Amino acid sequence: MREMLEAVSAELKRLRWEGVDAVYVTEETLARLRLAARSQAPAPAAAQVPSAHDLVQARSFEGVQQEAKAALAAEYTGGPISIPSATAGPVRRAPEPAVVVAASPTADVPPPTPFTLPAGSQQEQWNWLKDKVLNDPVCRAHVRPGKHVVLGIGSLEADIFFCGEAPGAEEETQGEPFVGPAGQLLTRMIQAMGLKRDQVYIGNIMNWRPEMDSEFGNRPPSEQEMAYCLPHLRKQLEIIKPKVIVALGGTAIKGLLGADMAIGKARGKWHEWAGIPLMPTFHPSYLLRNNTMKTKRQVWEDLMLVMERIGLPISSKQRGYFTEPPQG
Ligand code: URA
Repeated sequence: MREMLEAVSAELKRLRWEGVDAVYVTEETLARLRLAARSQAPAPAAAQVPSAHDLVQARSFEGVQQEAKAALAAEYTGGPISIPSATAGPVRRAPEPAVVVAASPTADVPPPTPFTLPAGSQQEQWNWLKDKVLNDPVCRAHVRPGKHVVLGIGSLEADIFFCGEAPGAEEETQGEPFVGPAGQLLTRMIQAMGLKRDQVYIGNIMNWRPEMDSEFGNRPPSEQEMAYCLPHLRKQLEIIKPKVIVALGGTAIKGLLGADMAIGKARGKWHEWAGIPLMPTFHPSYLLRNNTMKTKRQVWEDLMLVMERIGLPISSKQRGYFTEPPQG
């Protein structure tokens, strides 16, 4: 049960990051979440659990997130917690957070240690950085036996630097970013731009897959985890000096721009990282789940802006990708 609730909670958090404002949830799912919260909660705290009336209104994203978190907290602690980030809604909250939701796997992540790259060629600097990151004791401590710390990969001459969130299951197994289903989609996006995967650079905010109790699913990295890994990402950007950065999803925006911007609002507009133009767009894993013509077109429009910015030709066929065929 705890694993399921953790997965629901992490997924809702991820969707929120990706700019999703509402999720469809059946009455049955809501009832199950409510049951999970109630069955774990001690009698006095149970009064904080939403009433049936509240639940009828709890179809908003916040409401469902609240349900999942309450159920999850109850699973851990026997009582609900408050969720300060939630906007005012129909669901009541406990006055004080009873606990931090999980024994944080990030508690042992120290602050980052500043470092400088040694003098040398691009390739020498990248080799040095790779060696440093793959042997970093903090990164290694967060990787299970047989799995890998993951650094970015690609052309050191790349004009475009795609930045994602964190390695997933496939990536930590193979030691390469974006090789799972989301990565395969990213590769197709790159090909649609008329490029090969090895002509761009692909990196992540995180060097390791944020740990979960479950084998399945992913959770967004914590602030401490991101802070620890960010200097490694910055050094990759310093070495590559791309013409454009494409930030894939909310975590990449937060890591690079330090701002909590909803991807739905940030995308399609130019931002800047250390003087380099930065285009946010939806994460490919969001596209995999929201495989609508509208979302595909939005991502494609973002990528065409990138192509224009770096002077890549765009054919009329390419311009027409992901447009609805004329009716009739
Ligand atoms: N998602 C990411 O953000 N990065 C990866 O490397 C794989 C999936």
